[in-house]
Amino acid sequence: MLVTLEGLDGSGKTTVQEALRDRHPDAVFTREPTRSWYGEAVRRSIAADDADPIAELFLYTADHAAHLASTIRPALAADALVLCDRYTDSRYAYQGASLDGVVKRPMEYVRGVHQPWTRPPDATLYLDVDPRVGVERASATNKFERAGFLAQVGENYEQLIEYEPERFVRIDAERSPEDVIGAAEDALERLLDGEDCSVR
Ligand code: TMP
Repeated sequence: MLVTLEGLDGSGKTTVQEALRDRHPDAVFTREPTRSWYGEAVRRSIAADDADPIAELFLYTADHAAHLASTIRPALAADALVLCDRYTDSRYAYQGASLDGVVKRPMEYVRGVHQPWTRPPDATLYLDVDPRVGVERASATNKFERAGFLAQVGENYEQLIEYEPERFVRIDAERSPEDVIGAAEDALERLLDGEDCSVR
């Protein structure tokens, strides 16, 4: 089963991922951007304020393709529980925003680029924070963490949830870290028990 963690910068994904790791030591924990050389190229692009947004989309997408081949598909073939901190929805939401005005219907474009070959998540925990809270917590260390941009990213995530409500579990991430971790742990247990805890 492939479960992804998504949310705006500052939503606390990393803290949640660490807590889930303690609970599920046998699961495969991974992330995008990855730690491979493809991921390294992505990080260089994130740090470059003048990176071309189309070039950047394809760097992220190359990293995803390599990640699928090296980590995600083999782990799923071995029947592992895979937990991934950011995955395709990050591209749809973030590059859907950064390509605004560059291509028509950017989020649909980015989804279309992935659809023929990606492996969609079975479930997605969405850590929901207001973009202003995200910006404050993330302390704007990169170009993706600016308020106006994050607001647009948040709208894209909402659109994705509307498209596939059955896949998403919405977690109010403005609460204390303990409450957020508790809610994420509960949601994951219920998903593993085959319960429906989607936003439908
Ligand atoms: P991180 O904060 O989870 O390490 O992610 C790094 C930044 O990269 C974050 O601002 C979100 C952004 N990002 C994208 O824009 N598109 C993507 O596909 C991914 C995986 C991350």
